[in-house]
Amino acid sequence: MRLSPLFLASLVADVALASSLAFGNEAIPAGASIEQPRSASYSSHLSVRGHHKKDNWGNALEQDRKTIKIRASSNDTDDISSDFLWALKKANHGGLVYLEKGKTYVIGTKLDLTFLKDVYVKIDGELKFTNDIEYWQANNFYYDFQKSITFWVWGGKDIKIFGSGLINGNGQAWWDGFSGAEILDPDNKFYRPILFLTDNATNIEVSGLHLKDSPCWTTFFVRTKNVVFDDVYIDAVSTNASTLPKNTDGFDSLNVDGLTVTNTRVNVGDDCFSPKPNTTNIFVQNLWCNGTHGVSMGSIGQYPGVKDYISNAYIENVTLLNGQNGARLKAWAGPDVGYGYIDNITYKNIHIENTDAPIVLDQCYFNINETTCAAYPSKVNITNVNFINVDGTSSGKEGRVVADLTCSPGATCSGIHLEGINIASPAGSPSQIVCDNISGDIGVECISSSEADDGDD
Ligand SMILES: *[C@@H]1O[C@H](CO)[C@@H](O)[C@H](O)[C@H]1NC(C)=O
Ligand SMILES: *[C@@H]1O[C@H](CO)[C@@H](O)[C@H](O)[C@H]1NC(C)=O
Ligand SMILES: *[C@@H]1O[C@H](CO)[C@@H](O)[C@H](O)[C@H]1NC(C)=O
Ligand SMILES: *[C@@H]1O[C@H](CO)[C@@H](O)[C@H](O)[C@H]1NC(C)=O
Ligand SMILES: *[C@@H]1O[C@H](CO)[C@@H](O)[C@H](O)[C@H]1NC(C)=O
Ligand SMILES: *[C@@H]1O[C@H](CO)[C@@H](O)[C@H](O)[C@H]1NC(C)=O
Ligand SMILES: *[C@@H]1O[C@H](CO)[C@@H](O)[C@H](O)[C@H]1NC(C)=O
Ligand SMILES: *[C@@H]1O[C@H](CO)[C@@H](O)[C@H](O)[C@H]1NC(C)=O
Ligand SMILES: *[C@@H]1O[C@H](CO)[C@@H](O)[C@H](O)[C@H]1NC(C)=O
Ligand SMILES: *[C@@H]1O[C@H](CO)[C@@H](O)[C@H](O)[C@H]1NC(C)=O
Repeated sequence: MRLSPLFLASLVADVALASSLAFGNEAIPAGASIEQPRSASYSSHLSVRGHHKKDNWGNALEQDRKTIKIRASSNDTDDISSDFLWALKKANHGGLVYLEKGKTYVIGTKLDLTFLKDVYVKIDGELKFTNDIEYWQANNFYYDFQKSITFWVWGGKDIKIFGSGLINGNGQAWWDGFSGAEILDPDNKFYRPILFLTDNATNIEVSGLHLKDSPCWTTFFVRTKNVVFDDVYIDAVSTNASTLPKNTDGFDSLNVDGLTVTNTRVNVGDDCFSPKPNTTNIFVQNLWCNGTHGVSMGSIGQYPGVKDYISNAYIENVTLLNGQNGARLKAWAGPDVGYGYIDNITYKNIHIENTDAPIVLDQCYFNINETTCAAYPSKVNITNVNFINVDGTSSGKEGRVVADLTCSPGATCSGIHLEGINIASPAGSPSQIVCDNISGDIGVECISSSEADDGDD
């Protein structure tokens, strides 16, 4: 249908009236604005005809949302956190916060964003954290699990964060400050914030964005149901040759049901994708990882007396370049650890190049020697794991061994199946697959570690 100019003019008047009624008496932060959607009034006039399209959670589409804008920062310490918080409160229940292209929005104050319900955040500009280490180490959200801290916590229901923009963790100062320390060292007190963390959240979708230079893990999902990352680029690159961007994992999780990552690239110096305790229903497709510690299930079984699990993962079409590990399962061993299981995991169509340990089942995590691992073996069972069509090259660091599957004598490893494995080692051929203490046939020829040419003399 065609709308007459007069009809359109009346719509505009409605919009102006609605916004002055709704917001007329409230202070709007300097430089902020609220725009009603063109199509909302349009649809309210035509609502008898109904049938408006909804998003995948049954909420309004982008064009049907009111848009909240805030002023940008004028320099790297110009903190707009309170404006951003105001905007999220205004946009909550059906609106959209918009951060414009070419502008930088600096966050210098910790933010509790756990009140959200049906909100879109469109980031075409840059959201950047201050690197005031003293402030953030005194002001953050803390999680006991691996002593994690974060700048902000996202929680609630139906949250979409998307756009062509950047979330910048400004990590260089953090990596420099952390130099020489070790995150899992019980004495470490130099905590670094996680760049994006959800807690007690249901339905989170992040797409299009670049997540850059996180001080520590890039993402961590806690007590979360249904989180989807699509078309995201994650990197952490140090400009200081003597400090590495340590522990900047791409994806971590704890007590999560439904974790999906698709069409994503990760260039960091630690785990690319590594769900942690109690993560189930995992789906990964078209993932590219460079220089990482691989796509790992775990680590799990870290805390004494605590039962952890990871189950139902389908990982397909992953490229892993220049890393320590490729496809990996990792569980803790030692005198003071927990127990649990990893079950029903499929890695399919995995391409690996120049990687130290392309396929690994490691039950001697973290940082313990063979003697201690043998005395206190892992109690994490590993069952029903498929590695199907894995090709490429190792770095040769583990000699001719390209797959090392060593099960703990304290646990059961069964239903481990390899098929279509074609990984060459520059250290010589044929390459070797180690299988120790795995019960049943693994589908390919394999040898025990004592027979292996693994580069140790
Ligand atoms: C940064 O911008 C704020 C707000 O415009 C201003 O008050 C402050 O002086 C600026 N700081 C620097 C270092 O330029
Ligand atoms: C989790 O969020 C819901 C609302 O989404 C709230 O009712 C509940 O109290 C929260 N639980 C915790 C443990 O914070
Ligand atoms: C690199 O990091 C080290 C360790 O923190 C620090 O001493 C040094 O000043 C840094 N170099 C530069 C150029 O910032
Ligand atoms: C596999 O993933 C890569 C990105 O890493 C993508 O370019 C390619 O199209 C994907 N292949 C298939 C068959 O989807
Ligand atoms: C991949 O990682 C290597 C070393 O980790 C680095 O030199 C190279 O620049 C990275 N490539 C890309 C495309 O990021
Ligand atoms: C995992 O879930 C179990 C219950 O099945 C719970 O006892 C345990 O504390 C959880 N692990 C963590 C690390 O939260
Ligand atoms: C194994 O996980 C897949 C998802 O990857 C799921 O569809 C399937 O039902 C699971 N199998 C069992 C026996 O739970
Ligand atoms: C591990 O497997 C053993 C025997 O196969 C079983 O007795 C034990 O309960 C399992 N542990 C867990 C945490 O599932
Ligand atoms: C293994 O580690 C334990 C605990 O740190 C230590 O006491 C022991 O001497 C180590 N053994 C070897 C052979 O290095
Ligand atoms: C395999 O398990 C047996 C006990 O079941 C143990 O003696 C042996 O050391 C284990 N081998 C390896 C390589 O862990």
